[in-house]
Amino acid sequence: MTANLTARPHLPPDLVADRMPRHVAVIMDGNGRWAKKRGRPRIMGHKRGVDTLKTLLRCCDDWGIGALTAYAFSTENWGRPNDEVEFLMVLFERVLRRELAELMNENVRIRFVGNLQALPLSLQGEIERAMADTAANTGIQFTVATNYGGRQEIIQACQAIAHQIKRGELEPEEIDESLFEQNLYTQGLEDPDLLIRTSGEMRISNFLLWQLAYAEMYITDTLWPDFDHGEFHRALVSFQQRHRRFGKL
Ligand code: IPE
Ligand code: IPE
Ligand code: MG
Repeated sequence: MTANLTARPHLPPDLVADRMPRHVAVIMDGNGRWAKKRGRPRIMGHKRGVDTLKTLLRCCDDWGIGALTAYAFSTENWGRPNDEVEFLMVLFERVLRRELAELMNENVRIRFVGNLQALPLSLQGEIERAMADTAANTGIQFTVATNYGGRQEIIQACQAIAHQIKRGELEPEEIDESLFEQNLYTQGLEDPDLLIRTSGEMRISNFLLWQLAYAEMYITDTLWPDFDHGEFHRALVSFQQRHRRFGKL
């Protein structure tokens, strides 16, 4: 196994193959500021941000990282002006339609997490198609958090568990971490080892509140559309220098 990992194409020599994070989560922030700096409308930043995400996905795959989760739209982002929200929904749909064949080619399994029922119906259709078509792929697990909120995810898990109890399928004493995780959107996915946030904000913004319990955090001032291979490399070098204690000594 290790020999195989070491043989990964393009892995920079200063990264240790068997100390790579298995799951990277990313808060893609700073699209609006990137565009503003250039005197362009915010939506231009979102468009460029898609290219950054594609590059990162490919890089994770090449460097032996098994899972990438990206925060695309939060439950709080509905509070933005209508035209920006509408643009984002159309952008998600268009990108998904355009990229599906390539995701298939690259053996990517894509999954969307969040309150998907509240998304436009046409976007829901593309999401269902992409998840179904790629479900049997065996490559990188790519998760896109769309209309996602960590608090909302925890509440819906509580509701699902409460219903199981009400139906007599479960005793309250049987609720433990493992059962709780099975009721989260991310069931079956291991917790992120590394959380990256771009654009310098030092906060979680309601992302993966449960799953990030012991993730290493890497925050860079670089704005999302400028986050490239080199930036990702730096984040991984930083990650590999950390001593993860998990509360022990
Ligand atoms: C992140 O960039 C993308 C989304 C939240 C959809 P922003 O749009 O938050 O960009 P800034 O933070 O305003 O620069
Ligand atoms: C977090 O970014 C949400 C996404 C990246 C989708 P925001 O720009 O919405 O976060 P705040 O408002 O700065 O906390
Ligand atoms: Mg932002």
